[in-house]
Amino acid sequence: WPTYAPLIHAINKLKKEKNAVVLAHNYMTPDIFHLVGDFRGDSLQLAREAAEVDADIIVQGGVHFMAETSKILAPEKTVLIPDMRAGCSLASSITAEDIRLIRKKYPGIPVVTYVNTSAAVKAETDICCTSSNAVQVVEQAAKDWNTDTVILMPDQYLAKNVAANTGIKIITWAGACEVHELFTGQDVIDMREAHPGVVVLAHPECPPDVLTQADYAGSTSGLANYVKEKSPNKVILLTECSMSDNVAMENPDVEFVKPCNLCPHMKRITVENIYDCLVNMEYEVEIEEATRIKAKSAIDAMLALPK
Ligand code: 13P
Ligand code: SF4
Repeated sequence: WPTYAPLIHAINKLKKEKNAVVLAHNYMTPDIFHLVGDFRGDSLQLAREAAEVDADIIVQGGVHFMAETSKILAPEKTVLIPDMRAGCSLASSITAEDIRLIRKKYPGIPVVTYVNTSAAVKAETDICCTSSNAVQVVEQAAKDWNTDTVILMPDQYLAKNVAANTGIKIITWAGACEVHELFTGQDVIDMREAHPGVVVLAHPECPPDVLTQADYAGSTSGLANYVKEKSPNKVILLTECSMSDNVAMENPDVEFVKPCNLCPHMKRITVENIYDCLVNMEYEVEIEEATRIKAKSAIDAMLALPK
């Protein structure tokens, strides 16, 4: 590998030569996020970008389910992920067969799955959601199916959070994000005591007792926008570690308390393996066409909802 600054330069040169873009999730380390990413955002924004971007190659700065989402929406493009092992505890908690069995058990109930799932799971789904639109999607599904009950899987905490915000009965699964499930309500109490006046922002994958005590809950971009718009004196983002680092760089007047948990899957993506990925054109994400078409209809249903 070239040394650091030349490495960043080499990546940006390769992107131009190959007509490639890097989609950088908010959990990428600041070097990837700020110096290498062409588009930055939460999983919904990156999915929209994948569908629209004018490029031959997408390098996913994120985890495997995000790369699959890109491929589902942009089958004509080559979608690369720098490390195939970049998974997600939510995506690995549920299979397509699980969804088929659930559907049999609850006929007539719409199946909403979180985008943090495999393409095969999405293919068994009526409509997908992300953390930024889960409430909207579940309300729409209840309306369209004329029911007061919706299946929302696999994140049990997101499901509880949506149930609390909608009054809709939610059937869920025992999945959890290994990063966000570590935060507790007692953490919030302790942090407020240690940092009087601090504003606490949390991702909706956190357990309910964290969310009830937070000042705001939202997707990764929702949290970043809150800081930008409200410019609090002192803030805590209860989410993955790179978030605070990335948001802090754009908000130099805000003080960040940084309790956080690392996502080992997101951290598999590095500037070094992004460079290798572009040089060797590895690792290509492929999805069997029948699965892709079915999964696309669940994602399209989500993207068709008003922004
Ligand atoms: P966002 O959709 O909020 O970016 O969340 C993705 C994710 O993996 C959070 O853990
Ligand atoms: Fe999955 Fe959690 Fe990592 Fe997001 S932070 S990719 S939900 S394990």
